[in-house]
Amino acid sequence: MTGDEVSAEVEAAPGWDLTGADRERYVERMFDGIAKPYDRLNRVISLGRDRRWRAVAVEMSGVRPGDNVADVGCGTGDFSFDFARAVGQEGRVVGLDVSPGMLEVAAVKRAEADVPWLTLHRANASATGLPDGWADVVGMGWVLRNVGDRAPVYVELQRVLRPGGRFVCIDMSRPSNPVSRAGNWVYRHLVMPILARFAGGDRSAYRYLASSTDHFPDGPALAAELSAAGFTDVTWRPLMMGSLAVHVATTSLRDQ
Ligand SMILES: C[S@@+](CC[C@H](N)C(=O)[O-])C[C@H]1O[C@@H](n2cnc3c(N)ncnc32)[C@H](O)[C@@H]1O
Repeated sequence: MTGDEVSAEVEAAPGWDLTGADRERYVERMFDGIAKPYDRLNRVISLGRDRRWRAVAVEMSGVRPGDNVADVGCGTGDFSFDFARAVGQEGRVVGLDVSPGMLEVAAVKRAEADVPWLTLHRANASATGLPDGWADVVGMGWVLRNVGDRAPVYVELQRVLRPGGRFVCIDMSRPSNPVSRAGNWVYRHLVMPILARFAGGDRSAYRYLASSTDHFPDGPALAAELSAAGFTDVTWRPLMMGSLAVHVATTSLRDQ
C-alpha cells in the first residue's frame, strides 16, 4: 500500500465522526450486523486476550458476592457472565444494550449458563431505566467510545450507582510511547480490518473501531474527563502497552 492509499483507507473509515442520535443509529445497526460472529471476531482481533482483560476489569471493580451490577452495552454478554460469577446467586446482574442482535446472542448463551440472577434488557446507556442508587458497580466494556454523547451517560451512571459505587470501563486507548503508538496504529488501521474480514466479519465495522479509537480520549484524558464529570478516586491501568485502558471511578459521597 502506498502512503496515499493508506490515507484514503483511513479517511474512508465510516461512522466515527457521527455524533448524538446519528452515531447511536449507526452503532446499533453495525452491532446488529456483526452480532453472530462477534465473539469469534473478538478472540481473533484481541489475539485471544479479551477474556483476560475483562477479568482484570472485574477484579479492579472490587465487586463482591451479593452486589448489584449493571453491565451497560453488554453485547453478547461476556462481561455480564464474569460479573454474574463474581456476585453469585445472592447478587443481581442486569445486562443492557441497544442492539437487539447482540442481545439475542447473549440470551442464547444465558440459556446455556446456569445464572438466573442475570437478566438482559434493551436500553440505552443514557436512559437505563434502573432505579436511583441501585448498582454497586456499573461496567462498560468497549462501549463508552460508541455512545452518541458521553456527558448524559455519566449523569445516568452516577444516578444509578449507590453513593460510593464504582464505574469500571474497559476501552481502546493509545500507547504513550511513540514507537508502540505507531505500531498500535498500524495494527488497528491495517492489520485488524483484514483479520476481521478473514474471521468472517464486516471489514467496515473494524475500520470504524480503528478510527473511533483515534478520536476517543486516551488513558490520562479519560481519567480527567471522569473527574470533571463528578466521579472521585479515578484510577486507571493501561493494558497491552497502553492500547487499552481500564478505568475505575467512584460516585461521589458528597452530593447524594
Ligand atoms: C464492542 S461491543 C462490547 C460488548 C461487550 N461489552 C463486550 O465486552 O464484549 C459494544 C456494545 O455496546 C452497545 N452500545 C453501543 N452504544 C450503546 C448505547 N448508547 N447504549 C447501550 N448500548 C450501547 C453495542 O450495541 C454493542 O453491543
